[in-house]
Amino acid sequence: MKQKLTIGVFGFGCVGGGLYDVLNKSELIDARIKRIVVKNKHKIRSIGAENFSYNPDEILNDPTINVVAELIDDSDAAYHIVKRALNAGKHVVSANKKLIAEHLDELIAVAKANNVSFLYEAAVGGSIPIIRNLEEYYNNDWLSAVNGIINGTTNYILTRTDEGETYEEALKSAQKLGFAEADPTLDVEGFDSTYKLVILIKHAFGLTIDPEQIATIGITNLNPGIFSYARERGFRVKLLARAERVADQVFAVVAPHFVENNNFTYGVLNEFNAVSVKALFSDQQLFQGKGAGSHPTASAVLSDISALQFDYQYEYRKSDNVSFSLLDGDYQIRVLVSSEDSEQILNVNFTDEEERYFGKSSFYAVGWVDEIEFKRLRYNENLSLVLFNDHPRINETPELEFKKDKIENYE
Ligand SMILES: NC(=O)c1ccc[n+]([C@@H]2O[C@H](COP(=O)([O-])OP(=O)(O)OC[C@H]3O[C@@H](n4cnc5c(N)ncnc54)[C@H](OP(=O)(O)O)[C@@H]3O)[C@@H](O)[C@H]2O)c1
Repeated sequence: MKQKLTIGVFGFGCVGGGLYDVLNKSELIDARIKRIVVKNKHKIRSIGAENFSYNPDEILNDPTINVVAELIDDSDAAYHIVKRALNAGKHVVSANKKLIAEHLDELIAVAKANNVSFLYEAAVGGSIPIIRNLEEYYNNDWLSAVNGIINGTTNYILTRTDEGETYEEALKSAQKLGFAEADPTLDVEGFDSTYKLVILIKHAFGLTIDPEQIATIGITNLNPGIFSYARERGFRVKLLARAERVADQVFAVVAPHFVENNNFTYGVLNEFNAVSVKALFSDQQLFQGKGAGSHPTASAVLSDISALQFDYQYEYRKSDNVSFSLLDGDYQIRVLVSSEDSEQILNVNFTDEEERYFGKSSFYAVGWVDEIEFKRLRYNENLSLVLFNDHPRINETPELEFKKDKIENYE
């Protein structure tokens, strides 16, 4: 039976304001917003002051409110709001990927203990319906990879850089258009994609990982030579988030990649996101859409609210018998390393070097590096690092050979 929903909203910015609009325009859903809690008492609002409060208790202690939409931009404050709301027996819908990636198992347990739902479709890929699909549609399929572009800000900046703008110019126009925050660190350093990848990995493979376990490289250290290299070869540079199964382990990385024109991300431009899901029975499927923005993101929040009418909860069935671990140690990946200092390139320990260029003022080399070298290179600020989209090479052991054989027979 449909449940009547009375909503308390935290936040009335881009997403909270969007939710107010889309909920008012949607005639299909039996839900109303009773109260909106915000922070800044001096801000001019687009709707009447009677809608707002500055006291969280007005939502959290109100027994008539059965749904909390947590749409604020402060993940520490959000953690306390979400926990209190769940403990008060209210369903929670959130778009806050940092909060979710850092506290997911704890919040799942609190929701379960209180027999309420904690949903967060909007936290990954904005309007792209990926979480519920991983939970439901792919529940019985054997997933081998979930990857793509899951940050609109960096995709916008890389699109403009590819068209010839400098990083600084592209960032400025992203900020002007509202695609980038005044402090863009979380986006441009890759952390936003990493938080989202943590959530995808939980729903795709049942694995809980710490964001710090994912090798993350942002786009701030890409030199112009990288884009010339890409253009000469018909590649584009994209910030990809990848979670790929290698035997019973998951390779996870967020980093700039060269993609060829037959890659599904090649034509995904500006603020758009795209996610590919590869599975044993359904093969590859692509999801593409607006990864951010007021109404697109609010549409995902609305979809969660709508699901609450029917008491929907994520079941995390893949976590029940999780048989995966994060790929750690014995692998090699293919990278281009470039620098303005030739010494830096000479010092790279390739296991297999394929190409080297030493010009007048720019130097690069391409090849395979092992995990330890990859880590060393990532922390060297004098280097620009771009990955190729190849599967990681695994340093073979007889046991791994056996597992890979078993899996390749199915793939
Ligand atoms: N923007 C997007 O396209 C997008 C896409 C996907 C996910 N998200 C996620 O959605 C969430 C909201 O993002 P946004 O872009 O809507 O942020 P935003 O435009 O900056 O708005 C943030 C809102 O949060 C309120 N706020 C901050 N701290 C608060 C507190 N302690 N108590 C009550 N209200 C508080 C602010 O209040 P005042 O109005 O009083 O300042 C403001 O209304 C974030 O977690 C973000 O990562 C955003």
